[in-house]
Amino acid sequence: MENSTSQTPHAADGGSLRGRFSEATDEFVQVFTASIDFDQRLFREDIAGSIAHATMLETINVLTKAELDQIVAGLQTIQAEIEGGRLQWRVDLEDVHMNIEHRLIELIGDTGKKLHTGRSRNDQVATDIRLHLRSSIDGLVEQQGQLMTALADLAESNADTIMPGFTHLQAAQPITFGHHLMAWFEMLRRDRDRLLDCRKRLNQLPLGAAALAGSPYKPNRALVAELLGFDGVCENSLDAVSDRDFAIEFCAATALSLTHMSRWCEEMVLWSSQQFNFITLPDRFCTGSSIMPQKKNPDVPELIRGKTGRVNGHLIALLTLMKSQPLAYNKDNQEDKEPLFDAIDTLANCLTALIGMVPNIQANKDVMLDATLIGFTTATDLADYLVRKNVPFRDAHELVGQAVQLAVSLGKGLEELSVEELNGPGQSVIESDIYDVLTLQGSIASRDHLGGTAPSQVRKAIARARATI
Ligand code: ARG
Repeated sequence: MENSTSQTPHAADGGSLRGRFSEATDEFVQVFTASIDFDQRLFREDIAGSIAHATMLETINVLTKAELDQIVAGLQTIQAEIEGGRLQWRVDLEDVHMNIEHRLIELIGDTGKKLHTGRSRNDQVATDIRLHLRSSIDGLVEQQGQLMTALADLAESNADTIMPGFTHLQAAQPITFGHHLMAWFEMLRRDRDRLLDCRKRLNQLPLGAAALAGSPYKPNRALVAELLGFDGVCENSLDAVSDRDFAIEFCAATALSLTHMSRWCEEMVLWSSQQFNFITLPDRFCTGSSIMPQKKNPDVPELIRGKTGRVNGHLIALLTLMKSQPLAYNKDNQEDKEPLFDAIDTLANCLTALIGMVPNIQANKDVMLDATLIGFTTATDLADYLVRKNVPFRDAHELVGQAVQLAVSLGKGLEELSVEELNGPGQSVIESDIYDVLTLQGSIASRDHLGGTAPSQVRKAIARARATI
């Protein structure tokens, strides 16, 4: 879709905006100030915005019906030309707005020169970016929904799969793999909601603000907003053309989303290593080594983890871009596009990768179970048992610590110690019902409340989660 750009200067042949100058633009400056290489991506939004603007101009008698029809037909032709790769973008025409307007004048003559009445590239570009980000968010939210479904499915088939839960990356307490996956789901749901929230705030129309002060044609902004699917219009013309807070907000939400993904991916990398071997990743999402024939590298999760860095960078770039800018529009804002576009693409690509990978993660259930058995992960359950027998929790903690020390020295699990060994010298509070508590199943089943790891609760959580997708 990206078309090649002609870099030949054509300052004299129209669209140069240089009526007040006595010399042509410096060749370097022309290339330096142009944005066409990257803002051509906005052509659909630019054309949709122009059609809505022209439609409104006809209703306030700036254009006749015949002129409007000519402009709309011309813009549709240009859209087809761009989609067919037939429009040669020109650097001397600076950006997507000037390129399209210039082509319109080439196609339909003087009527094309009326399109820009009551409009500036300042409100035009602000509108284009908002439209582009809005449809990008819609696509991303759709992808997030697919990933949420994939996570819920995998969690459902692992609602009873026992694994160690970790703190400090040390086995801590038994949990189910389904419960762990639903933690990822919760993060993802908030990430989706942040994008939806960002969409709400950005969906206000800048057009009508013109350069910065509004336009003397009394534009019907509500009509343009309606035609373009905006919820309302930007209330202040200076703010409308100058702020890019919506782009910053999007990058912040995206940085957070990638940060979450980096955590899941880190776990996938760890768990798929020979050392953990908790999961097997699908071969088609792994790569080989150029030298070590035995290697199966988790490149995809590693790369997602790595891509967090570039999106965090885009957030900082946009914050810094906006910092200290006086009102209203400044050319600085042209620099908003590349970070924003790359953040959109990066999030979309990471979601695509995870949507493909997650349903094919295979849980190595026996390995997870063995790892849970060796980690004294029911020690807290033993302490809780003692509390139920009226031992204060701090004392219980101490007693269990001694039992763990004994088990370590004997090379046994807690559940392999006798009642006498568990009690320690001179104690008798622990009875044979302790073995119900020391099993992994007993421990997990006892966390039977909203948000707990009991399989029945995990299943309920999954059902509630599915209703939010
Ligand atoms: N390419 C410009 C941008 O992205 C369009 C707006 C130009 N406006 C101006 N006053 N120079 O910001």
